[in-house]
Amino acid sequence: MNAPTLKKAVVTGATSGIGAATSKALSAAGFAVLAVARREDRLRSLADETGCAWVAADVRDTDRIAAEFEGFQPDILINNAGVGHGITGLESLDAAGIQEAIDINLAAPVQLTALVIPGMRERGRGHIVNVGSIAGLHTLISALYGGAKSAIHRFSQNLRFELRGSNIRVTEICPGRVSSEFYQAATGDKDKLEAMGRSAIRELQPEDIADAILFALRAPPHVNVSTIELLPTEQAVGGVAITPIEQRD
Ligand SMILES: NC(=O)c1ccc[n+]([C@@H]2O[C@H](COP(=O)([O-])OP(=O)(O)OC[C@H]3O[C@@H](n4cnc5c(N)ncnc54)[C@H](OP(=O)(O)O)[C@@H]3O)[C@@H](O)[C@H]2O)c1
Repeated sequence: MNAPTLKKAVVTGATSGIGAATSKALSAAGFAVLAVARREDRLRSLADETGCAWVAADVRDTDRIAAEFEGFQPDILINNAGVGHGITGLESLDAAGIQEAIDINLAAPVQLTALVIPGMRERGRGHIVNVGSIAGLHTLISALYGGAKSAIHRFSQNLRFELRGSNIRVTEICPGRVSSEFYQAATGDKDKLEAMGRSAIRELQPEDIADAILFALRAPPHVNVSTIELLPTEQAVGGVAITPIEQRD
């Protein structure tokens, strides 16, 4: 079946990092972009630069976003907004911080996806892109962040199964370390970043992830690019953590 070309894309988390780069790349490639994030000044600058439409909203505010979707009728949803709360350990957060991380990283993408599916089904076309993480595929440092991203991985896999036959594609993008405001926002602490080896490698750039998203969007209609994992060349996953005997009680 030859699906019409998809052209109207919502990008969440568009004010920084991967979302900003993706909004710019898609706009330059001729997609109509609706950029979603909370910081209005940055959205205005993005719109000035790219001509995109924008809505200053929290991804958890599904009523507000539903109203915007009603007017825009997206045929692409890029669930990218995310936070690294708890990346240095679950005990670094209080109950509200834990809930916020789950709501932004997991509940919101699921809710926004549920909002766009009926219209996509009606139009007989659509593409959901979930920005997950290598933390959703492998055992890494954060229980909370990895838990939410693992759920995004399973959500993406099962959604593809649920939507089979609908002509709606589902792609999951799983980056390793990307140079963005993410870790700084997550830890608020330069020393902790360096302790995590942050400054030791050449990280992926947000534009690298935007390129991967464009690749998936531009695949021929009969091709669903299901999962893309991207790592900096200087980052690898694996190993076993051992607690030295002198650090045990
Ligand atoms: N950086 C990495 O190494 C890395 C690796 C793997 C996966 N990822 C994933 O990639 C995605 C983008 O991260 P990034 O590296 O580009 O981080 P970033 O530079 O910190 O950007 C995060 C974006 O999310 C938005 N956002 C956060 N909470 C929001 C909320 N409640 N409502 C609406 N927008 C919200 C922020 O905008 P406002 O503050 O203006 O709302 C910002 O635009 C995330 O899902 C992250 O988990 C990142």
